[in-house]
Amino acid sequence: MSIIADDNDFKSSAIADKKKRSVVKAECLDNDKHFENCIRPKTFDTYIGQSALKETLKITIAAAKKRELPLDHLLFYGPPGLGKTTLAGVIAEQMGVEIKITSAPALERPRDIIGILMSLKEGEILFIDEIHRLNKVAEEILYPAMEDFFLDMTTGKSQTVKTLRIPLPKFTLIGATTKAGELSGPLRDRFGIIHRLEFYTEDELSQVITRTAGILDIEITEEGAHAIAKRSRGTPRIANRLVKRVADYALVKHDGKITEDVANKSLDILKIDNFGLDNTDRSLLKLIIEKYDGGPVGIETIAAAIGEDVRTIEDVCEPFLLQAGLLQRTPRGRKVTPETYRHLGYKNININGQKSLF
Ligand code: ADE
Repeated sequence: MSIIADDNDFKSSAIADKKKRSVVKAECLDNDKHFENCIRPKTFDTYIGQSALKETLKITIAAAKKRELPLDHLLFYGPPGLGKTTLAGVIAEQMGVEIKITSAPALERPRDIIGILMSLKEGEILFIDEIHRLNKVAEEILYPAMEDFFLDMTTGKSQTVKTLRIPLPKFTLIGATTKAGELSGPLRDRFGIIHRLEFYTEDELSQVITRTAGILDIEITEEGAHAIAKRSRGTPRIANRLVKRVADYALVKHDGKITEDVANKSLDILKIDNFGLDNTDRSLLKLIIEKYDGGPVGIETIAAAIGEDVRTIEDVCEPFLLQAGLLQRTPRGRKVTPETYRHLGYKNININGQKSLF
């Protein structure tokens, strides 16, 4: 028996569909982890930016598939929020394999890394975030696993000590780090492919923003997307967070649509300036200017004075400030540039003790 649906059936199924979609969207907005997972691109076509890197990776993947071998171990480095984890997920999808995601601080005890290595299947990808924070023991367990796909285990004590070589399936390790320089030489040498992720252009970020808004059913104009992109510090993670905040403002104060004006008003309220700097960035730069005559001043002194920890300053604030030319790193500490004075609206500048006016 076939059932012919009447118009009301269609209407109620459309309503049910819409409800289902809004439940999914509500889940996306539930917390940061859900949000990132909902909007994470799964294919090279939907992954915006990093075009040179994407082209190289596509060739590497095609070659590995032709040879029917797992990919070489890969290391991605670059500032946080540029899509290292996302890219690893795209690679897994493209290779048609599972990916297990962990981070170095979670691999504290030998059994943590041994457990995860032993759970891998042929061809699978193990992604280790913040790999520069791996401890010595975990690193030494990884060396033979990466090189020869073996786990070297020792049993017994002193004179009765025995080494067991346990074979592992051929897997691919993808490591990600914000600090390539802190990786030990032997670990870095075991990666066949090393790539740096670059900051995104305003156009690329604007595409990321439009895509995210589309997934979340948020109406946005091209100018609105560019206004958010301009203040996103070249970083998709920041751009996506700002979309959420601006969408809240658009919904509460306007009709829900993100226009250039709505985006600018909302970002002004959030105290994110037209370079994308927030209060922490500004207090860091102002401190160097006002208390240390433009620098140089040590990072520990800066951290103590503004009440942030050194790691947050080094990993989160500094990469963009350095790239934007608002901060310099010297052997004697951090110093600002003429551009910093100009951007923060100072009339007198002081560089290396030389005072001048704009
Ligand atoms: N969201 C975060 N990173 C992205 C990217 N590179 N492309 C599209 N959406 C993203």
